[in-house]
Amino acid sequence: MILQLVWTGLLPALFSLSRAAVLVDFQVAQPPPVPQDAKQCTIQVFERVFAFSFGDAEVVNYTPPTDCGEPGSWAAVTLNFTVTSNGTQFDRLGILTFQNVEIWRTSTPEPTRGDGIIWEYIKDVTRFTPLFAEPGTFIMQLDNLIQTGLDGNYSTVMHATFYESSPEHPTAGQASERYHSSLDVANDTGNDASVPPAFSINVTIPQNTVELYAELFASGNGQEEFWYFNVPNDNIDDLPPGFALGGGPFREVRLLIDGQVAGVAFPYATIFTGGIVPTAWRPITSYGALDLPTYFLDLTPFIPALVDGEAHEYTIDVISAEQDHTILQNWFVSGLLQVVTDPSGAPTTGNITSLSADPFPVTTSTAQTRRNGSDVIINVSATRTIHVELTS
Ligand SMILES: *[C@@H]1O[C@H](CO)[C@@H](O)[C@H](O)[C@H]1NC(C)=O
Ligand SMILES: *[C@@H]1O[C@H](CO)[C@@H](O)[C@H](O)[C@H]1NC(C)=O
Ligand SMILES: *[C@@H]1O[C@H](CO)[C@@H](O)[C@H](O)[C@H]1NC(C)=O
Ligand SMILES: *[C@@H]1O[C@H](CO)[C@@H](O)[C@H](O)[C@H]1NC(C)=O
Ligand SMILES: *[C@@H]1O[C@H](CO)[C@@H](O)[C@H](O)[C@H]1NC(C)=O
Ligand SMILES: *[C@@H]1O[C@H](CO)[C@@H](O)[C@H](O)[C@H]1NC(C)=O
Ligand SMILES: *[C@@H]1O[C@H](CO)[C@@H](O)[C@H](O)[C@H]1NC(C)=O
Ligand SMILES: *[C@@H]1O[C@H](CO)[C@@H](O)[C@H](O)[C@H]1NC(C)=O
Repeated sequence: MILQLVWTGLLPALFSLSRAAVLVDFQVAQPPPVPQDAKQCTIQVFERVFAFSFGDAEVVNYTPPTDCGEPGSWAAVTLNFTVTSNGTQFDRLGILTFQNVEIWRTSTPEPTRGDGIIWEYIKDVTRFTPLFAEPGTFIMQLDNLIQTGLDGNYSTVMHATFYESSPEHPTAGQASERYHSSLDVANDTGNDASVPPAFSINVTIPQNTVELYAELFASGNGQEEFWYFNVPNDNIDDLPPGFALGGGPFREVRLLIDGQVAGVAFPYATIFTGGIVPTAWRPITSYGALDLPTYFLDLTPFIPALVDGEAHEYTIDVISAEQDHTILQNWFVSGLLQVVTDPSGAPTTGNITSLSADPFPVTTSTAQTRRNGSDVIINVSATRTIHVELTS
């Protein structure tokens, strides 16, 4: 079945002879490891044509299904986002927020005109089972723009499938002892924070927290979409005017707690389907275009400082290897905390005895521009160490 899709996609010319086939776009991805023999319950989450949809997210209510076992007892949960488009359009960022937590960042393949395109992506959201166990709200933000020369609508439908648990396929995770907390603001529009400047939010975690993880979402946009091609500010004048953007090619996504670095991510360069050579991404998108990589940080070592019952400030920003660490505009960032609590309810104890996490990585932008009239060779490097010791 999957092979068939591949060949349909690779041979659009063959099908255009008969003028009958929609081009099937896809991202190569492993199918989610769901139990195929389990009872499945599928609900439609929403159906929406994203035409001129800037600032007009799809907001829908969700009620957990009850005919595949107790809500939250499922063996797996997947989402199916299927989209068609016919016309001319740019790639657009899609942000799916559920229960005020971003759970999926995607982007749209650029459509073709005539027969149009279709794509389907099955996303494993089993790790968010505790969210799906409660009624709540889905927000799909897909800011599309229709104007002269740009007429491609995105016609979308999203389904959620729940796999009933059984002795062979047990409930995923321990729902009652896990919950998710958002590191994002706008809970009615899905709008992600744009940085710079840094984004901060205060969060209180339970005093019986025993494991704590952050999952970060971060995508470069505008002057930062191709950040890895950006040139250090010191060298920008070595290149023809307007040839490159500044800020250098290094980016670090930082998570700070109360102003102290608690973890960092080096972002993956997702190339959207309009990026660099658009024809290279049709019908197979680059890795991550339909399911952008996220970044997991284990914050468990910081728990002793966080279980005092008080709010602590979580900050997400993106920095460069420039002397002042600034970047251009902009990155869309968000995140979530996955909190695991001890069922006994007893407060977690412990002390951080040693912590070394410099605010910035050690960077060398050696700026050895070796010039012979035509070439500029720039070498930027960075290293980063975070060291935490604690007692129980
Ligand atoms: C795009 O969607 C808008 C709003 O739903 C609709 O009015 C328009 O006809 C659609 N255009 C095409 C080409 O399907
Ligand atoms: C995903 O949804 C589309 C549109 O409803 C449907 O045609 C397709 O069969 C679904 N895919 C899977 C694997 O369920
Ligand atoms: C795509 O849109 C064009 C008009 O822009 C129309 O002629 C054509 O029939 C459409 N194709 C499909 C598959 O709907
Ligand atoms: C949205 O945020 C406001 C203000 O923080 C809060 O009062 C409200 O309960 C939130 N709504 C949801 C659905 O999370
Ligand atoms: C978090 O709380 C502290 C202390 O009340 C306050 O100074 C800070 O401004 C708050 N931060 C945010 C982002 O609300
Ligand atoms: C942790 O530190 C506090 C104050 O610094 C101290 O009172 C307590 O005994 C320490 N606990 C452990 C387990 O070291
Ligand atoms: C310029 O120098 C680089 C590296 O030293 C070399 O690879 C390149 O061939 C030189 N270009 C010209 C035009 O001489
Ligand atoms: C780039 O700089 C780093 C750190 O100074 C150095 O280890 C590396 O060898 C340099 N690479 C090149 C190609 O010059």
